Amino acid sequence: MSLQPFVKWAGGKRQIMNHLLKLKPKKFRHYYEPFVGGGALLLELAPIHATINDSNKELIYVYRCLRNKRLFNKMYALCKEHEEKHSEEYYYQIRNLDRKKTAYAKLPTYVKAARCLYLNKACFNGLFRVNSKGQFNVPFNGKERINCFTEENIQSLHKYFHKRKPVILSKDFQEAVKTAKAGDFVYFDPPYDVVGEQSFTSYTTGGFGKEEQTRLRDVVKELTEKGVLVMASNANTEFIRDLYKDFNIHTIEARRNINSKGDGRGKVEEVIITNY
Ligand SMILES: C[S@@+](CC[C@H](N)C(=O)[O-])C[C@H]1O[C@@H](n2cnc3c(N)ncnc32)[C@H](O)[C@@H]1O
Repeated sequence: MSLQPFVKWAGGKRQIMNHLLKLKPKKFRHYYEPFVGGGALLLELAPIHATINDSNKELIYVYRCLRNKRLFNKMYALCKEHEEKHSEEYYYQIRNLDRKKTAYAKLPTYVKAARCLYLNKACFNGLFRVNSKGQFNVPFNGKERINCFTEENIQSLHKYFHKRKPVILSKDFQEAVKTAKAGDFVYFDPPYDVVGEQSFTSYTTGGFGKEEQTRLRDVVKELTEKGVLVMASNANTEFIRDLYKDFNIHTIEARRNINSKGDGRGKVEEVIITNY
């Protein structure tokens, strides 16, 4: 059963998957992915025991619906409705649901999850981006017809999540790994250290600056002391190399093609850090 990410996510890991698979530990108990995003590595490994987390609540609603049969069926039906009603006007109607904060907060999980899948497929460049008020602000992609998912993949995802019942959280990364024990494996894929102005870091409100990178490194140190196996991805910057100088740093080449202007496609160096 091959599982594919259900969203195109900034920082998606498909480009460097071979390196991640080579560098991951051979054996581990419980898998943790505290910045799960589209979950490329999670889905590649399809672990039996897992805890996933992302501060982006919209994305987490989709994972919750994939795990629960009743929610999955409702999300599925609503996605089909979105596909049928799809037009530019409809797109903005659905996109703007979050403009009324209180009413939006009260919507059922499956409604927000279906909205997330629909917007991800109908928005320009397939990005999930919010403004400073936390409102989804990507314009329409102009396509006449869209599919919220591919049938085979969404069914396989539902099968996996329903069977394995991973723990699904939407907290800060530090909280999400509190339960990790010796022999467990944590893969950190945070928003990357910013090299130039164009780096895409607005997944959710609240950026991920140097202080956050340093806090993450400290969490890696604590986990290392506990005997937890840790792998982390980041940009190949002087700042990151210095932060992780006490760990193993593997430099790799990646192809990247997400930025706000759609240019800047090309090869960049990244690092994969391991404590084993
Ligand atoms: C580089 S992306 C992860 C990409 C993912 N591995 C993939 O394959 O699609 C980083 C993720 O971290 C989340 N994030 C940002 N700050 C966070 C925090 N403090 N705690 C938890 N998640 C956070 C973002 O919402 C985003 O989804």
